[in-house]
Amino acid sequence: MAKKILVITASPRSNGNSAVLASHIVKGAEASGANVEVVDVTELEHKVAGCMACDGCHPDKLRCVQEDDITDLVADFPNYDTIVLVTPVYFFGFPAQLKIVIDRLYSLLLHESGMIFSPLKRIKFAVAAVAGGNEEDSGWELIKKQMKYLQELIDGLPPKFLFRGNCARRDTVAGDAGFLKEAEEFGSSLGR
Ligand SMILES: Cc1cc2nc3c(=O)[nH]c(=O)nc-3n(C[C@H](O)[C@H](O)[C@H](O)COP(=O)(O)O)c2cc1C
Repeated sequence: MAKKILVITASPRSNGNSAVLASHIVKGAEASGANVEVVDVTELEHKVAGCMACDGCHPDKLRCVQEDDITDLVADFPNYDTIVLVTPVYFFGFPAQLKIVIDRLYSLLLHESGMIFSPLKRIKFAVAAVAGGNEEDSGWELIKKQMKYLQELIDGLPPKFLFRGNCARRDTVAGDAGFLKEAEEFGSSLGR
């Protein structure tokens, strides 16, 4: 059966490095037979600043009680095989627009007898990031660490990663044919 992939883009620059990266990941994933949907989180309306820690979603609602664009997006996560975050690095981490979505994954955690269970457990997460700096100094290592902690928290699948540093210009990724090929292969590997 065709894989269902959700690609989440998180740059306010609609034609910048992450936008081009995302389009090549999508191309590769579709070529391998996956059904791909794309959501740009910078276009979502959200009423709340993030997770309000109200615990209205617990013990077992699996849906945030704050209704805005992010509520449905997050509640739908368990319907995908793979979720790909395509993002610039901002201040050594995820941009705020994406972090707001990530924090609201709290509504997909079930707490039982001191343990956490989550329908996210069976979902493959992938992060493809661009940054002005390099692998060591940009914050990319911190993003990878966050994703690995998330994996441990939900007892999930190992995340997949792709990174392009030294994106000094808006069109750095667009001008790097070798990396674009890598991005397509990355997308294709997620779709298989
Ligand atoms: C608000 C802001 C914060 C940034 N913080 C970082 C950072 O911490 N590390 C880094 O390497 N690059 C940083 N950058 C550079 C971007 O990651 C880089 O320009 C990236 O290519 C932008 O992606 P885009 O073209 O998809 O918007 C920052 C850029 C902005 C606008």
